[in-house]
Amino acid sequence: MTSDEIRSRFLNFFEKRRHKIVPSSSLIPNDPSVLFTTAGMQQMKPYYTAPENALRDFGTKNTASVQKCIRTVDIDEVGDSTHLTFFEMLGNFSFGGYGKREAITLAHEFITKELGLEISYVTFYKGKGVVDRDEESKDVWALLGVRDIRADGDDVFWGPTGDSGPCGPTTEIYCKNTDGQDVEIWNVVFNQYFCEASREQLDKGNTTLKKLDVLGIDTGMGLERLAATVQNKKNVYETDLFGNEQSREERIVADHVKAALFMISDGSTPENTGRGYILRRLIRRAVRFSKQPLKQEIEKIKKIYQGVYALDDKGEIEKEENRFRETLSKGLKEFEKGTDPFILATTYGFPIELTLELAKEKGRNIDLEDFNKKIVKHQKLSQTSSAGMFKGGLANHDEKTIKLHTAHHLLLAGLQHVVDKNIKQRGSNITEERLRIDFLFDRKLTDEEKKKVEDWVNEKIKLGLNVVRKEMPLKEAEKIGAEMEFGAKYPDTVSVYFIEDKGGRAISKEFCGGPHVSNTKELGQFKIQKEEAVAKGIRRIKAVLL
Ligand code: SER
Repeated sequence: MTSDEIRSRFLNFFEKRRHKIVPSSSLIPNDPSVLFTTAGMQQMKPYYTAPENALRDFGTKNTASVQKCIRTVDIDEVGDSTHLTFFEMLGNFSFGGYGKREAITLAHEFITKELGLEISYVTFYKGKGVVDRDEESKDVWALLGVRDIRADGDDVFWGPTGDSGPCGPTTEIYCKNTDGQDVEIWNVVFNQYFCEASREQLDKGNTTLKKLDVLGIDTGMGLERLAATVQNKKNVYETDLFGNEQSREERIVADHVKAALFMISDGSTPENTGRGYILRRLIRRAVRFSKQPLKQEIEKIKKIYQGVYALDDKGEIEKEENRFRETLSKGLKEFEKGTDPFILATTYGFPIELTLELAKEKGRNIDLEDFNKKIVKHQKLSQTSSAGMFKGGLANHDEKTIKLHTAHHLLLAGLQHVVDKNIKQRGSNITEERLRIDFLFDRKLTDEEKKKVEDWVNEKIKLGLNVVRKEMPLKEAEKIGAEMEFGAKYPDTVSVYFIEDKGGRAISKEFCGGPHVSNTKELGQFKIQKEEAVAKGIRRIKAVLL
C-alpha cells in the first residue's frame, strides 16, 4: 500500500463516518506561542473551548486531516530509525460529536480492518492528582478483544500545545514492526481539561486544570511510521516517503532538506532569529553532512511528493548552501585552531549547535554559559544600533509594505465579493515588492474572476475610501464578523481596520495590528500576478501595486 493510498484511505474512512475533511494548515502557525505547526490539533485548538463554532465552520462536530508538522526538539536524534523533523500527521477530531468509546472503536476498526494490522498492545492513563484513572478506555479496549492493555503515566497525558490549551489523558496503540519491535502508531487524546499554562508549567505543578464543558477528541498518527509498518519496512527511510537512505549522514540530509523545502514552501526564509534560524540551521546541517550539492536531494523530494504538495524553494536552499559552503571550510579551520565559539558564530556564521556537535565528535569541551553571555550582550548591542536585526518579530513599517498591506485587505474583500462570500484567509506574507494571500478555496480562479477581482479592488482604490482603525472588545469584533485568521489567538481588546464606503458602510473589516494608509487613493494600480494552489483546498495569490 503506497503512502498516497494510506492518506486517502484514512480520509475516506472518516469522511464516510461523517467527518469533514479539513486541508492541512500551513507549517507557520497563527499561534504566536509556537514557531511551527507541531500537531494536527493545532488548527483545531479554538474549537475545544468553543465547540459550537465547529458546526458553523465545518457543518459537523467532527473533522479529519492530514497535517504537515515540524518538530525540532529531537533534531539530534534524526538519523536513527524513527526520529524526523518533518512528518505528516493523520488525525481525527471531535468537539462534542462523540466520546471515548467511539474514538477508540474507530481507531481499532481503521487499524485492524482497513489496514489489516495487528495491535500489539495499548496503553491507558493510570491517573494522577485531579485526573482519574481512565477506566473507561481500558474497558472499551477489553470489549474490543485487545488482550494486552497497559496502565501508563505522564507519557500518556497530552498537551497543552503552546503556552496554553486543551489537554487530557490519552490511549496509545502499538503495533509490531518487521523486526518484531513495538512501535507507537496512534495517539488518541481525550481533551477533558483546559490548561492556562504550558506543559512545562503543568509538570512543575505551577498551574491548575479546568474541566472543559465538552469532552474533545484529538488523535494523531504519524504517516511515516505507519507507512513503515504497513509496507513491512525496517524503518521510515525504506518507505516510499524517502529514498532508502542507509547511513546516518544520508538520513540527516534527507530529513533536513525535506523539512527545509516544506518550510520555505510555506513562506519561511533563512534568518538569524526565531523560525528563520531553525530553517537556516537545518540547511547548514544538511550541507555539512552532504557529500554533494543539495540540488539532487531537492529534486528527489519534489518527486516523492509530486501531486500531493506543491513544493518550491525558489532557489533559497541553494542560496543558503552557497553562502554556507563558502564559510564552512574557513570555519572548520578556525574551529581546529580552537577559536572562541562566539567568534565562530558571529564572524564565521557557524551556528553554536554545529560547534557543539563538532566538539562532541572530537571530545572537546565548550563553555556554553560563556557563549550565551557573550551572545546576549551582542544581541542587545545590535538591537539598539540596528532595529532590523530582529525584523523577524517586528512588523515592517516602510511605505511600500504599508500600502500592500491595505491592498491585501481590499483583495480579501474583493475575493469574497466577486468569487465566494465564504472565502477565508489562511495565511499572508507581505514584502516591499508584493503581497501574498493564502485562502481556503477548492479550485482555480478563472481568468474572468481574476479580472473582476482586480477591477473591484481598483475601483475601491479610485473611490478614495477612508481606512479607519478602531479598538474594541474581542467579543464585539467577533460579533460584527470582522475577518480573523483561522485559528489565531487574540487578546481581549483588539484593533480592527475598517475600509468604509462613502455612506460609511464597511466594505472590509479585519482584525489587524496595522499600520495602514489612511485613504485607499494612496495605493495606485493593483495587479494580480499569480494565482496557484499551495495544497489541496488552499489557493495562493500574489499581487503588486504598480
Ligand atoms: N495532539 C496529539 C499528538 O500530536 C494527538 O493528535 O500526538
